[in-house]
Amino acid sequence: MTYGHLGSILKRRIETKFRQFFIEPFHIFEMESSIVTPGKVFEASGHVDAFREPMVQCAKCKKKFRADHLLQEQIGLSDTETEKLGLPEIANEIQQNDIKCPECQGKLQRPKYFMTMFTTTIGPYSESVGYGRPEAAQGIFVEFKRMYEVARERLPFGVVQIGVALRNEISPRQGLIRLREFTIADIEFFFDPEESRCPMLAEVEEDTLHLIPAVNKLKGVEEPVNIRVREALQKNFIREEWQAFFMVLAKRFLNELGIPDDKQRFVEKLEWERAHYSSQGYDQEIFLHRWGWTEVSGHNCRTNYDLAQHMSHSGVDLQVFKEYEKPIRTEKLVVEPIPSEIGPTFKKDSTRVVAALKEAVVKDVESSLKENGFFMAGPFKILPKHVKIVRREIEERGRRFIPHVIEPSFGLDRLVYAALEYAYSKREDRNILMLPRDLAPLQVGVFPLVTKNGLPRKARAVQKMFREVGLLVEYDEAGSIGRRYARADEAGIPLCITIDYQTLKDDTATIRDRDSWKQIRVKLEKMPQQVCTYFLHKNDFTHISGKNTCQQ
Ligand code: ATP
Ligand code: GLY
Repeated sequence: MTYGHLGSILKRRIETKFRQFFIEPFHIFEMESSIVTPGKVFEASGHVDAFREPMVQCAKCKKKFRADHLLQEQIGLSDTETEKLGLPEIANEIQQNDIKCPECQGKLQRPKYFMTMFTTTIGPYSESVGYGRPEAAQGIFVEFKRMYEVARERLPFGVVQIGVALRNEISPRQGLIRLREFTIADIEFFFDPEESRCPMLAEVEEDTLHLIPAVNKLKGVEEPVNIRVREALQKNFIREEWQAFFMVLAKRFLNELGIPDDKQRFVEKLEWERAHYSSQGYDQEIFLHRWGWTEVSGHNCRTNYDLAQHMSHSGVDLQVFKEYEKPIRTEKLVVEPIPSEIGPTFKKDSTRVVAALKEAVVKDVESSLKENGFFMAGPFKILPKHVKIVRREIEERGRRFIPHVIEPSFGLDRLVYAALEYAYSKREDRNILMLPRDLAPLQVGVFPLVTKNGLPRKARAVQKMFREVGLLVEYDEAGSIGRRYARADEAGIPLCITIDYQTLKDDTATIRDRDSWKQIRVKLEKMPQQVCTYFLHKNDFTHISGKNTCQQ
């Protein structure tokens, strides 16, 4: 996949908009971690076992295909139906329906699972396995402790990572929609499960979402319900307020990329369709002319799954401590070390043993002593004689727990595709890319009417004037003015300024609007301020005041 000059700028502008929309207004922090990640991280996260797809190979031409996609294309099974099938059932469907290789009609072999993470070794050590990250989220989870400090140890807070994700897709044949290297924007929003209210809900609860909740999907209802967020929460279609909040933001964000509400919907994943870490998940889908309903972002409740997994694999405590307003006194079972027994057994390690026992979960100590006759406190073997388990009244200052996570996750390349499709329009046989103006790669075109009599020099000066206020300006003097407007429309340049003979006389020039093709004549000295206001405040073209001239 390659982006050219305008494509790269468009993608960057979508990223900038994403930051303005999701990060800057909220308690969300950005970070960047490595793409090639030690194997242990993805063993802990469960990806090594779960990140796989069913694949089938043709015995004759040796081509490989996603087995589930073949069943969808050839016998019309839905995504939901194929997600449910294990390898034996897929093999059965292939045999029963006599499905052949779509390329050469050869016989298909038995399906197998294919791990879709790219595998490598890190450095010269063949035993040191690494994976190309298939999501940016794990980089956030393993840095949770530091990011929590960055957030001044306050919940809720979010961390976002925008960067490359790698997935060794079996048959990526959909251009920007299915890439092996794509840009993902993962937000991990951490909150206390016992205080899970979203204080900003009032700002979104009157919004309507088009939802296909799991209960309806199970009944075969494919039409979305149009439902206000408040009601969707009351009906438990969406369980967490934070999840609903981010779903609304995602809908509004897509609106700002030019995709209207009626071309968007959220489809809940059924239990067997959900990723291994998800307790509830909605896909945000948009309608694309060529690909039909297509996922652009996933919204999952990841509970404390990831942090708990990393905590148990790494031994690093990822719990947070939340102080109560006033300490409370409660009765609790506690493990009390018996110094007169610990001292003689563990000698100089005694202090470490006592510290390890302090961290141990009482229930685990109790059951291990009962079932095994010992308990391992780290490397130390604790026998029943070393400890007492007793009920004590203790004062608790606060609560320790692993935060829960809501994850909105966007694929930026799919958003680039979507923004382009929805901006593409035609008028009088001309292509116009009606991108929202803050996404337009080039913001202003400056054209001298003719290439003589000092007009190019004046136009270059105007170009410089706009560059100095931070706009991206295209200077074009090639071909007729009509051709130049047409090229600018195709590239989605919102405003074009033409320098003509009158400019030399009275320092005015025409500004032409891409969408209405209206032109007005404006004093050059007023232009940078008016044009910047137009870009910054999303005023429409009529807010640029000047004398109307003829339409082009
Ligand atoms: P799909 O079902 O289309 O394969 P997914 O469910 O695997 O997508 P997620 O794991 O939820 O996708 O990834 C988050 C987002 O990343 C998706 O919503 C999508 O926008 C994007 N994405 C996923 N895979 C790709 C890919 N191969 N190429 C481009 N974007 C992708
Ligand atoms: N982190 C988003 C996903 O991989 O689904």
